[in-house]
Amino acid sequence: MTSTQANTTNQKLNSWIKEIKNLCKPDAIHICDGSQEEYDSLCEELVEAGTFIRLNPELRPGCFLSRSDPRDVARVEDRTFICSEKEIDAGSTNNWMDPEQMRSTLSPLFEACMEGRTMYVIPFSMGPLGSDIAQIGVQITDSPYVVVSMRIMARIGQKVLDILGDDDYIKCLHSIGAPLAEGQQDVAWPCNPDNRYIVHFPEAREVISYGSGYGGNALLGKKCVALRIASVMARDEGWLAEHMMIVGVESPDGNKTYVAGAFPSACGKTNLAMLIPPKGFEGWKVHTVGDDIAWIKPGADGRMHAINPEAGYFGVAPGTSMDSNPAAMKTMEKNSIFTNVGLTDDGDVWWEDMSDEPPAHLIDWQGNDWTPDCGRKAAHPNARFTAPASQCPSVDPEWENPNGVPISAFLFGGRLSTTFPLVYQSKDWDHGVYMGATLGSEATAAAENQAAIRRDPMAMLPFCGYNMGDYWKHWLSMKDKVEELPVIFRVNWFRKAEDGSWLWPGFGQNMRVLQWVVNRVNGKVDATESIYGNVPKYDDINWNGLAYDQATFEELMAVDTANSIREVEDQSEMFDKIGDQLPEEMKAIQQEMLAQLQ
Ligand code: GTP
Ligand code: SPV
Ligand code: MN
Repeated sequence: MTSTQANTTNQKLNSWIKEIKNLCKPDAIHICDGSQEEYDSLCEELVEAGTFIRLNPELRPGCFLSRSDPRDVARVEDRTFICSEKEIDAGSTNNWMDPEQMRSTLSPLFEACMEGRTMYVIPFSMGPLGSDIAQIGVQITDSPYVVVSMRIMARIGQKVLDILGDDDYIKCLHSIGAPLAEGQQDVAWPCNPDNRYIVHFPEAREVISYGSGYGGNALLGKKCVALRIASVMARDEGWLAEHMMIVGVESPDGNKTYVAGAFPSACGKTNLAMLIPPKGFEGWKVHTVGDDIAWIKPGADGRMHAINPEAGYFGVAPGTSMDSNPAAMKTMEKNSIFTNVGLTDDGDVWWEDMSDEPPAHLIDWQGNDWTPDCGRKAAHPNARFTAPASQCPSVDPEWENPNGVPISAFLFGGRLSTTFPLVYQSKDWDHGVYMGATLGSEATAAAENQAAIRRDPMAMLPFCGYNMGDYWKHWLSMKDKVEELPVIFRVNWFRKAEDGSWLWPGFGQNMRVLQWVVNRVNGKVDATESIYGNVPKYDDINWNGLAYDQATFEELMAVDTANSIREVEDQSEMFDKIGDQLPEEMKAIQQEMLAQLQ
């Protein structure tokens, strides 16, 4: 291990480190300085331990492949808890346990849980260093994979401690829950899949995670801090912490309009964040600010300003290709970590739909021989790349602006094969909040008529750190906090024709919708009232470079009364679940819409 280490005179931090050391009994402690040297030597150790495979340096310089335990491949929502002091503050959409009871449950698990391992202390900043909007946390972990991943996904190390000084920080304790007895041989991906806990203490601003080394379970700055804890801070302080990508849309005259969009997990945020305008949009550019999380605060100019609290992308690999997302492909050409993808014979990575022609042979995500006809997937469907945002060719020059970027529009979009038009604009702020609150998405495509919808309000169902009804009230209250409110839209790239084919080409072609959105915000294009909201007519959309006939457009925008009544009635299930906390505006808008439909 490198000799370089960070140091701090923060007494609270030093005594917490001592306390956790006495509890977890690691063999060694390393306080991360965040240097390249430290990163390189940890990667080398991970290679020696068999956790990392160095990819071909000619094809993927500075890149590594990691294969997780097949039982530890995604976030575990049923093991995620919001331990607020009162149960009502977690609400019916979160798992809750009394905080004291949870602490007594967790304590014995952490006793000597780091035996035989090094305990790493990672000071991290979510948000540009020193930004007013940024928050500092410290994660203690026994996973070196987490340390190197956190160095890509957040700003970490000595520079964070220097800014922290003697202040408070968000405490994040993480263990993979796999102590090593003397002489015991380690495995490539140690974890404890039968005993996982992803726990949040909102009042204490604290996270404790046990048993998993994967993604949002283990890189605690991401979903745990930047969404679940931050959403509570945002409620208390009058801002928003959202599961949103952020883009800057530049028109040929050089004007830039920033748009933030919430889509449930694996529903296209990364693709939209890195969109390349198609043929017919010469002079238009889309700049990436963030692909997963936005922190949005009222600014001195009376507008909402957003930052991306992250420094990297932890993106879904399968489906990503030079066709679907060239900017993402370029971002991960070097200095990236790949988890649960296939390994080609020449030491590169491959996953489903990365190329039309799959390699004749590779090693799959579980380490087995794979051929195109073997009947198994080369990559796990939730395989991910971890890549620095600074390497993204479309990254916005303002992406690290400590004041954030001014937001003009919010998009909410799910994966909905029926009922919902391509795009519609809310009638006012409350109606926009209703559109976000009733957002849904289908788990699987393919359903013929009315597929079952999982409600995912604002794409935050698994990430809201408090009562969902209070969260909606908080959204409603934001209208009094700024002078110039962003305009709210719903979009749906996923509507299907009766034969099951996509009605909308999606991906780069979504630019046509983004342009209409931007033009609406800037008062440059008309809209027509419909039952859902304000919609474009065929001629309001720019069709340069795409043959898309009016009849298909009408099908894409059609409002089917019976389906719509079913949809609006179905919203009651979520509303009932929220119960007394439901803001009355939501019910009123729902009832008004039902009356109009009938
Ligand atoms: P998380 O990182 O899980 O929060 O998700 P994300 O929203 O960033 O998801 P991502 O962009 O990785 O979603 C990828 C999935 O959405 C893939 O299955 C893509 O094929 C699909 N997708 C993205 N954009 C479109 C689109 O415009 N049309 C269609 N049909 N599919 C799309
Ligand atoms: C998501 O599931 O929305 C993600 C991936 O962005 S993870 O960080 O694992 O939560
Ligand atoms: Mn996400």
